[in-house]
Amino acid sequence: EETQVKKLRQPIVVVLGHVDHGKTTLLDKIRGTTVVKKEPGEMTQEVGASFVPSSVIERLSEKLKKVLPVKLEIPGLLFIDTPGHEYFSNLRRRGGSIADIAILVVDINEGFQQQTFESINILKERKVPFLVAANKIDRIPGWKPFENEPFLETIGKQKKDVQIRLDNQVYNIVTQIAEAGLNADRFDRIKDFTRNVAIIPVSAKTGEGLPDLLALLAGLTQRYMKERLTFAEGPAKGVVLEVKEDVGLGHTIDVIIYDGILRKNDQIVLGGINGIITTKIRGIFVPRPLQDMKLSKYDFTSIDEVYAAAGVKISAPNLEEALAGSPIYVVNSESNLDEIKNKIEEE
Ligand code: GTP
Ligand code: MG
Repeated sequence: EETQVKKLRQPIVVVLGHVDHGKTTLLDKIRGTTVVKKEPGEMTQEVGASFVPSSVIERLSEKLKKVLPVKLEIPGLLFIDTPGHEYFSNLRRRGGSIADIAILVVDINEGFQQQTFESINILKERKVPFLVAANKIDRIPGWKPFENEPFLETIGKQKKDVQIRLDNQVYNIVTQIAEAGLNADRFDRIKDFTRNVAIIPVSAKTGEGLPDLLALLAGLTQRYMKERLTFAEGPAKGVVLEVKEDVGLGHTIDVIIYDGILRKNDQIVLGGINGIITTKIRGIFVPRPLQDMKLSKYDFTSIDEVYAAAGVKISAPNLEEALAGSPIYVVNSESNLDEIKNKIEEE
């Protein structure tokens, strides 16, 4: 018998932080860069998440090879955005629970704010490792932008006083993280990433620092999380992000699958407004490939099965009372339905 190399799934990267500190802009920039850098066929479309294939990460961090050597075994990274408004504490918590790793976005000019502290507490509570993206470095007085360059290159091209200004702001963040009981430092000064939170100065506007951020995310997850990321062939587990009514599909749920395999006709259980819902999957959908994106936003294509990690839309009977934020599980003949129902009720 031949020894099989176990496949790794893509780490789920959840983006958290205070309102307006740049979470969505950062993901848009990463997505935009990905679209430019991808080769045909490299892109899979997701619902509620953005997938960046490893080939793209390798291409982007080409210039960093000497300092951040990454030979990637993970297939890529799956990013999930969360809203920063205090009102969405629930979604942050959910995000925290499915994250393999997180990016805590902090406006480098403003430092920690209320939802930054709240986010860091969620991450500590759920024991989620995280990096800090110290965003909006382009707003540091005197900053000279070099579009899409690694931080390690662009910082050397800044004037001395600008470099000092940046470091003062980084040091503020280090102090604020220390208040939460954790050690942190600028990523290029860290020797042991298991003991220090890495701070990566970035600009979601100019793209500076994104190569470093992606290289670190990919490098750290595949180095320290192999076991967790080893793909399980079992029934799917996920979280419901949103409940919607889609033209032609009726009530649907947008779901992040973080473990196992999801198939058409699978029986699923999830939380509902009036108790637990048990139903059978009618269809699994993903958006059509990017080049067709100008078509209607309701344009989804049906697939028969999907492997974790992934973002998909599910249509099934009885979803009108489904609860956003609920866990969702596939149940098969061997599953213990009562145990799973208890688990959902506990959450
Ligand atoms: P919420 O979803 O409301 O929590 O906000 P967010 O964290 O997603 O922030 P968003 O990406 O919406 O950005 C807020 C504002 O900051 C927008 O006007 C962005 O254009 C701006 N912004 C984000 N990143 C940068 C950056 O790196 N540089 C500059 N100059 N502006 C930025
Ligand atoms: Mg946002």
